[in-house]
Amino acid sequence: MFGKKKQAEEPKVTVDERLQHIAFIMDGNGRWAQKRGMPREFGHTQGAKTFKKIGRYCESIGIRYMTVYAFSTENWKRPQKEVDAIMKLLDEHIEECFVEMDTDNVRLRFIGNLEVFPPQLREKMKRIEESTAHKPFTLNMAINYGGREEIAHACNRLIEQGKTKVTEEDISSAIYTAHCPNPDLVVRTGGDLRTSNFLLWQSAYAEYYFTDVLWPDLTPKDVDEAVSAFYSRKRRYGGV
Ligand code: FPP
Repeated sequence: MFGKKKQAEEPKVTVDERLQHIAFIMDGNGRWAQKRGMPREFGHTQGAKTFKKIGRYCESIGIRYMTVYAFSTENWKRPQKEVDAIMKLLDEHIEECFVEMDTDNVRLRFIGNLEVFPPQLREKMKRIEESTAHKPFTLNMAINYGGREEIAHACNRLIEQGKTKVTEEDISSAIYTAHCPNPDLVVRTGGDLRTSNFLLWQSAYAEYYFTDVLWPDLTPKDVDEAVSAFYSRKRRYGGV
């Protein structure tokens, strides 16, 4: 899934139970390519490589859950050529996961509204999820994902189950990430300081880390810096 033959870079930090789940807003692919006089799609291709490198590294330092924002419900507004390029990358990635699913350590989950994808692809995603359900490192790939859509979708599921009133616990059990703890740390690359509709419900008490580094340039050393920043903070969850 992260490229079997490649070794993760030598880990410089390790994490403990305080940092189980890290989420990434992989921003800056387009600018990375444009800075090099290349089409934006080239940035996404490079971004997919960085995703593998960072995934390998997070697994090696002891992270248990990683979530990446690969395609949002709003990203369909981009030029068709760019949407097609991202879809092709995702398609290739899913195919690769399908081939490697029995032999690596990754439990893959696809989060988002998957109804828009062709039935054959959805069937493949389902088979990957089922076959990797017992693996120790969980990777959530957010595709056609929007935080607001997720909350509305969860409420509709609860209504379908007959609920007329819902609790926070009900919503937490019906969102796409019900199988894993909330993110402890959300890292956004690319310099913008916003959440962009990512993990709205789950990130109520997440620590945020923003960096100007464009996603294709992100290195394990940058992850170490984000991890160090995380450990330098005191999480109070609204207490004192
Ligand atoms: C944001 O950068 C990035 C995306 C909308 C797509 C992210 C997709 C990938 C990294 C490839 C997906 C494939 C796999 C296998 C994970 P941007 O295009 O908004 O960059 P910009 O802010 O510089 O325009």
